Amino acid sequence: MQQISRRGILAGTAALALARPAIAQGAPIKVGLMLPFSGTYAALGENIAAAFELYLQERDGRLGGRAVTLIRLDDESDPAKAPQNVNRLLERDGAEVLIGTVHSGVVMALVQAAREREVPLIIPNAGNVAATRELCAPSIFRSSFSNWQPAYGMGKALAAKGVKKAAWVTWDYAAGKESGEGFRDGLRAGGGDMTHLLTLAFPDTHFLPMLGVLSGLDVQAVGSFFAGGGAVQFVKDYAASGLREKFPLCGSGFLTEGVLTAQGAAAEGIQTALHYGDGLDNAKNTAFRAAFKQKTGRDADVYAVQGYDAGQMLAIGLDATKGDATAMKPMAAAIVAAKIDSPRGAFTLSPSHNPVQTIYLREATGSENRVIGVAADALADPGAGCNMSA
Ligand code: BEZ
Repeated sequence: MQQISRRGILAGTAALALARPAIAQGAPIKVGLMLPFSGTYAALGENIAAAFELYLQERDGRLGGRAVTLIRLDDESDPAKAPQNVNRLLERDGAEVLIGTVHSGVVMALVQAAREREVPLIIPNAGNVAATRELCAPSIFRSSFSNWQPAYGMGKALAAKGVKKAAWVTWDYAAGKESGEGFRDGLRAGGGDMTHLLTLAFPDTHFLPMLGVLSGLDVQAVGSFFAGGGAVQFVKDYAASGLREKFPLCGSGFLTEGVLTAQGAAAEGIQTALHYGDGLDNAKNTAFRAAFKQKTGRDADVYAVQGYDAGQMLAIGLDATKGDATAMKPMAAAIVAAKIDSPRGAFTLSPSHNPVQTIYLREATGSENRVIGVAADALADPGAGCNMSA
């Protein structure tokens, strides 16, 4: 579970000055895009950035009447470098808005800056629950999910099939552990339980010892959170171990998202739960997928959707304040009141600024995560401990 306390966040301010620079009227607005462009989550960061840029192009590069200057920074999914990286964007580059990031540990430095400096922050992936629970703030928004949400849907869908005991295997950091809690809660809601939690350090991919332990467990299914390059390796190793015949593998949808071609036959038939999937039939999704393919040559995935929606949310906020990113109250009010017309299906934000959204059940079929049902309808993160006025 996330171990950073509010007191710790507020105390650890040394690297961040509190003053915000004066912005010249009519000057371009600088948007800091802090994402992983290297390491195991590099492909995720690239798709978020490309889709965010796609949305800007659709707006002729202007939001709230101001031209947008994007500043890209590779955070390497390294929490140790995160405070310095955020400081660079704010102090050296003069970013007025922050968009980032993918990794649940790295996002804490962005959350800290958003809370202390009231810089608008839109999180286009990282599901760390604290950002929209005990560390929520008027300046912090998510276009993605909380780690709890997709895994809750998976646990619920598994329990509905009669599974009583399941294990969760994952990396030992906030995303892995919090998604395990969602999986457990979903199973419990349907009369099952998560009886075992197995972890290894992020971003380790030496899965064989863990697979050895799994083979001896008294469970009916195995659920997991891995993503990016690590997910490719885990799914291949799981299939090679022969465990799929014994324990069906499932997970948060990140397990097979954007990586099916690399996973090949090893992924065929794996069921996962996520707030996006292949085959969603709505006009926004059709147009988005075509435009993303034309821009990048790649198929859109959930990461691209979240990047695009971060652009849409920022536009709603800045349009309401005529480009003034310091006008936090009206900016937040506009974003919270909006129905975001997302390729995943329209969504609104919960009182703690996290999407309330459908979690789809998907099955890996060839190169697609085909939607085969709804795992949880209009699911909100519990938002426990969020006090916007604190
Ligand atoms: C996370 O660290 O929150 C995360 C990373 C990749 C995919 C999903 C969640």
